[in-house]
Amino acid sequence: MSGMHSFAAWTALALLASTIDARPQVHRHRRPHGQGTASADDLYTAVATPTATATNFPSLSIEPSQYSLSSTAPYGFTASGFAAAPTITPSRGQPYANASSTAIPSHALSSPYPLDETNSTSAVSSRYPANFRGVNLGSWLVLESWMTPDVFQGTDAVDQWTFDSTDGTEAKLHQHWSTYITEGDFQNMSSWGINAVRIPIGYWAYNNSGTPYITGADAYLEKALGWARQNGIWVMIDCHGSPGSQNGAEHSGHAGAVSWQSDDNLQLSIDILQTIAKKYGAMQYADVVMGIELVNEPKIGSDANSLATTQAWAAQAYHAVRATAENKALYVLHHDGFTGVQSWVSVGAGLNSNISSSSSSGDQGTFALDLHLYQNQDAVDKSLTLDQHIAKACAYPTTDPLLPSNTSTATLPLFVGEFSAQINITNTTDGIWTPDLVDGTRKFFEAQMDAFEHSSRGWFVWSLKQGGDTGAWSLEAIMENVYGSDVISKRKYPGICPFG
Ligand SMILES: *[C@@H]1O[C@H](CO)[C@@H](O)[C@H](O)[C@H]1NC(C)=O
Ligand SMILES: *[C@@H]1O[C@H](CO)[C@@H](O)[C@H](O)[C@H]1NC(C)=O
Ligand SMILES: *[C@@H]1O[C@H](CO)[C@@H](O)[C@H](O)[C@H]1NC(C)=O
Ligand SMILES: *[C@@H]1O[C@H](CO)[C@@H](O)[C@H](O)[C@H]1NC(C)=O
Ligand SMILES: *[C@@H]1O[C@H](CO)[C@@H](O)[C@H](O)[C@H]1NC(C)=O
Ligand SMILES: *[C@@H]1O[C@H](CO)[C@@H](O)[C@H](O)[C@H]1NC(C)=O
Ligand SMILES: *[C@@H]1O[C@H](CO)[C@@H](O)[C@H](O)[C@H]1NC(C)=O
Ligand SMILES: *[C@@H]1O[C@H](CO)[C@@H](O)[C@H](O)[C@H]1NC(C)=O
Repeated sequence: MSGMHSFAAWTALALLASTIDARPQVHRHRRPHGQGTASADDLYTAVATPTATATNFPSLSIEPSQYSLSSTAPYGFTASGFAAAPTITPSRGQPYANASSTAIPSHALSSPYPLDETNSTSAVSSRYPANFRGVNLGSWLVLESWMTPDVFQGTDAVDQWTFDSTDGTEAKLHQHWSTYITEGDFQNMSSWGINAVRIPIGYWAYNNSGTPYITGADAYLEKALGWARQNGIWVMIDCHGSPGSQNGAEHSGHAGAVSWQSDDNLQLSIDILQTIAKKYGAMQYADVVMGIELVNEPKIGSDANSLATTQAWAAQAYHAVRATAENKALYVLHHDGFTGVQSWVSVGAGLNSNISSSSSSGDQGTFALDLHLYQNQDAVDKSLTLDQHIAKACAYPTTDPLLPSNTSTATLPLFVGEFSAQINITNTTDGIWTPDLVDGTRKFFEAQMDAFEHSSRGWFVWSLKQGGDTGAWSLEAIMENVYGSDVISKRKYPGICPFG
């Protein structure tokens, strides 16, 4: 496809961009109407490349003024490198909480049980399905007004923060939590061949101190884990809203300023992640929770977060979560901040080095990168034909987004935590699915899934439901109108991508 830069050009642009400090304004995803100002090419260019390599990593520098370590943090970043994580000796043979349940899902049966915790990651590759085929449960525990406009009706709220600040919304919120996603959704997802969900949740579910946020979402996450387990579905717990807002977007909970890297917010983020890891990284959840995502779409730029600070924080948060979670096969994910895989290769190589160097069995690192690959956000994508959209998806494995040459599942597992079948060609707002629309959606969706299954650990559609919209944003609508009785892995256009 056209428009992708060679690596050399990419590097040159990256250096130029870092020099002049020009950053694209692209760090919002899934704008409801797709009006973008930056091009897709900008996405993977305007970032600085890290200079660290696998051998000299970690050598990122971080200014104390940007980030103060808690004196009690046992394996934090230091100027000269990372202190070694302590040896964890988890208690073995703990019974699973629901061990006597007869409804152990089929996904659990193929993997060694319980995990050999002394050889923590040896089971990672055999434990999980070859491909996670997932969907996000968006606008459930973190509201987004464009997705669930009915919830916002009658308020002036623009995000979770202002919604929760509005008088009388607490009951409405509980009503939404208890009705928007139910056990029936998990049964349906399972029947479609979905084997994973990514569940966005905000930090305030665990500590809302000093904020207007309403707590209580965690009880619904816990319910969802039970439903997921009953239906053979893995769960990625995604900390979608971080203290101070990591991107200033509505979907972080608080639209406006980005102050994630100010005050104590980075440390507070780690405290919250440890709370999550202590609870959901326990062995009693090891058959259902496959990962914890540290941060979603941190905005990188001179007006927002520094890439170097974000990378150093990623390492610290990874160690903190690994040390807290009993389950050592848990993926610990970090979003790339739209800086591209290249910016994270050396971070992953450093954190996963023990696994990649000693692995003779194709074992995987547990620090993983989350990429969001939309073709409906940027002006440049608007003018593509269906064939060009498909070609662009098919080229992911050989171009920047999922570039395989620098990474492997051992050094840096990749996940596509968000993508969509919605492009202007598959955009029906009237709910009328003409044969062309059905066909186009199926082709584009299959091409994307083929690319992701070729070059990543798995994919997660954004999103299960899209309030009031019966178009291709919603997996529910796609299953009903495009797939009928076909499961999601059924290909109508096998080999649509040249790589097979
Ligand atoms: C790798 O393993 C060694 C020996 O177990 C340990 O000392 C070291 O801290 C580990 N490195 C990382 C990056 O976890
Ligand atoms: C860890 O697991 C790998 C792969 O199963 C195996 O080859 C290796 O011997 C194990 N190491 C230990 C110390 O048990
Ligand atoms: C599950 O699918 C059935 C059949 O399409 C549908 O009638 C039902 O409403 C769905 N359940 C939920 C909770 O969406
Ligand atoms: C909650 O967050 C506040 C800062 O906003 C912090 O002072 C407090 O210690 C946190 N509480 C817990 C239980 O971690
Ligand atoms: C354990 O089982 C109970 C009763 O079936 C269920 O309500 C709960 O959600 C389950 N917990 C988990 C974590 O699966
Ligand atoms: C998609 O949008 C572009 C620009 O708005 C337009 O030129 C193109 O014809 C549209 N494609 C389709 C199939 O509607
Ligand atoms: C990525 O791969 C390209 C080409 O294979 C190589 O030139 C480059 O140095 C690699 N980058 C990193 C960060 O390893
Ligand atoms: C989908 O259609 C709506 C309504 O016409 C429009 O506002 C939006 O920009 C379209 N989305 C895309 C990705 O073309």
